Amino acid sequence: MSDVSFRLRVNGVVHDVCGAWVGENLLFVLRDRLGLLGAKAGCEQGECGSCAVLVDGDLVCSCLVLAASAAGSEISTVEGLQPSEPGTFNPVQQAFLDHGAVQCGFCTPGLIVSITSLLDHNPRPTDLEIEEAISGNLCRCTDYGRILAAVRAAAGVGRD
Ligand code: FES
Ligand code: FES
Repeated sequence: MSDVSFRLRVNGVVHDVCGAWVGENLLFVLRDRLGLLGAKAGCEQGECGSCAVLVDGDLVCSCLVLAASAAGSEISTVEGLQPSEPGTFNPVQQAFLDHGAVQCGFCTPGLIVSITSLLDHNPRPTDLEIEEAISGNLCRCTDYGRILAAVRAAAGVGRD
């Protein structure tokens, strides 16, 4: 088995990854080597979206990305979307709280990343666009209607 060493830039911080198996996926490296536990290991097959992160601004399932291939890219995880001031939340997180869109929370980091990506590219999405954007994020315990309401609120839709 070949080992590789490389650097990852995650949320603006450079990390040296040394002696990794060449086949380690980005999700494993983020969680088990860098201690960034926001992205969750659900299906590990690209089906559930719980491991969503941004690589150079593109939404990806980190379980499907070879970590070494992300060297040189800017990686953003849900931790990087958190405001630095303790006890404060970004607008998407706050909307989830306000609309009761979190129950067990397992899917929530992936949803927050997916929705942030959506709003970055399309600040005023239609319901259909929201549904399409979160269609890759499986939630097993919260009403999707609450999630939709939270995204609408975060986008300011309906406040015109
Ligand atoms: S853990 Fe990556 S898509 Fe499910
Ligand atoms: S809140 Fe439990 S899986 Fe979504």
